[in-house]
Amino acid sequence: MDKLEIQGNGPLRGEIRVSGAKNAALPILCAGLLSADTISLDNVPRLQDVGTTLKLLRQMGMKAEQDGTHVTLNGAGVDLPEAPYELVKTMRASILVLGPLVARFGQARVSLPGGCAIGARPVDQHIKGLQAMGAEISIEHGFIHARAKRLKGARVVTDMITVTGTENLLMAATLADGETVLENAAREPEVTDLANLLVKMGARIEGIGTDRLVIQGVDRLHGASHAVIADRIEAGTFLCAAAATLGDVVLRGVSPHILDTVLDKLREAGAAIEAGEDWIRLKMAQRPQSVSFRTSEYPAFPTDMQAQFMALNSVAGGVARITETIFENRFMHVQELSRLGADIAVEGNTAVVTGVPRLSGAKVMATDLRASASLVIAGLVAEGETVIDRIYHLDRGYDRMEDKLSAVGAKIRRIA
Ligand code: EPU
Repeated sequence: MDKLEIQGNGPLRGEIRVSGAKNAALPILCAGLLSADTISLDNVPRLQDVGTTLKLLRQMGMKAEQDGTHVTLNGAGVDLPEAPYELVKTMRASILVLGPLVARFGQARVSLPGGCAIGARPVDQHIKGLQAMGAEISIEHGFIHARAKRLKGARVVTDMITVTGTENLLMAATLADGETVLENAAREPEVTDLANLLVKMGARIEGIGTDRLVIQGVDRLHGASHAVIADRIEAGTFLCAAAATLGDVVLRGVSPHILDTVLDKLREAGAAIEAGEDWIRLKMAQRPQSVSFRTSEYPAFPTDMQAQFMALNSVAGGVARITETIFENRFMHVQELSRLGADIAVEGNTAVVTGVPRLSGAKVMATDLRASASLVIAGLVAEGETVIDRIYHLDRGYDRMEDKLSAVGAKIRRIA
């Protein structure tokens, strides 16, 4: 298992190009199942989760070619509408094939994802929505079986806002008979990016970017070309690293508008931020100030940035209260940050972080994707050497993070 070795050595300085968004690329790749024509994609990040999705799609009979950040898909030969346990257990986002499969092929057999490190994460809303659209669904031997001659348009109000749930139902609705209304829809930029691709494929969707998506089903979708939007969480992670190390970093290839709340919190922490249409510059001249926040659905503060801001708060001046409202168990990084000297007390779903003047390097363990990112940030500011074990979590969602950080002056290397 690979590890990352980091020597804390002062400010990050330079430029970083932001990759395409993992959480946009995954549903977009699954959207390839909706058509028999060719989908041509750019800015697809080179990640473990993208590799897993391509493997899953190929196993169903999809033709998929990957050349750097370019991917072409052709779904003409898809003949096995199934997602096996072996792949779903390694990547929960595999559930995103359920909607497209039942919409185009009238049936699907998808392994039920289990719980994971950050919470139970049920998929009941995906199932409830498809049932409302006329699918017959049974759960047998750990698999979701869905059948429908043709899905029918319906009004679906999800009990909570769910990102992949919205994406699954949106994809299903594009090929349903009649009008579907998705109320309480997720408004994350990644949902919008998927919707924009679907429109290019011939889908009829209104309300894109709002919490009410209205879809008129069509008989078939055709081929299209699309470039995946920038990864706002990767961008936010590098900005936190720059702020924590008192650095001066310019990010390229990302619009500041998808990061509003994150940029506001960084300004509150004392960072000077400038931005243009597709770049963001952050300069931190003095020790950051603590910033309190609660995670919530877009456009509020993202749960996927909670751990990274906890690392930043660990070395800030003051006391921060961080409340996690999306996932019930997303504080696994607290114990590991504490090993580096952070002062964090957890009370229910709130972490109280008292900033300390310095952290000290230690051996720590990555527990999930964003937890790993918080340990990298802490390692960059800790005195001495930090070794992070189990970084396969990091590789799932960050495109060559150690190369990008080395290029702006970090002393970080991968040990096989
Ligand atoms: N939920 C249910 N039932 C459902 C669906 C969701 O109870 O049927 C609950 C979840 O358990 C959770 C809340 O609703 O408590 C919100 O979950 P959501 O469905 O929005 O999460 P997700 O779609 O599984 C996506 C991202 C996550 C990100 C969350 C929240 C992808 C592939 N994953 O997950 O990304 O944290 O939205 O924004 O888009 C990550 O990238 O590190 C990551 C975990």
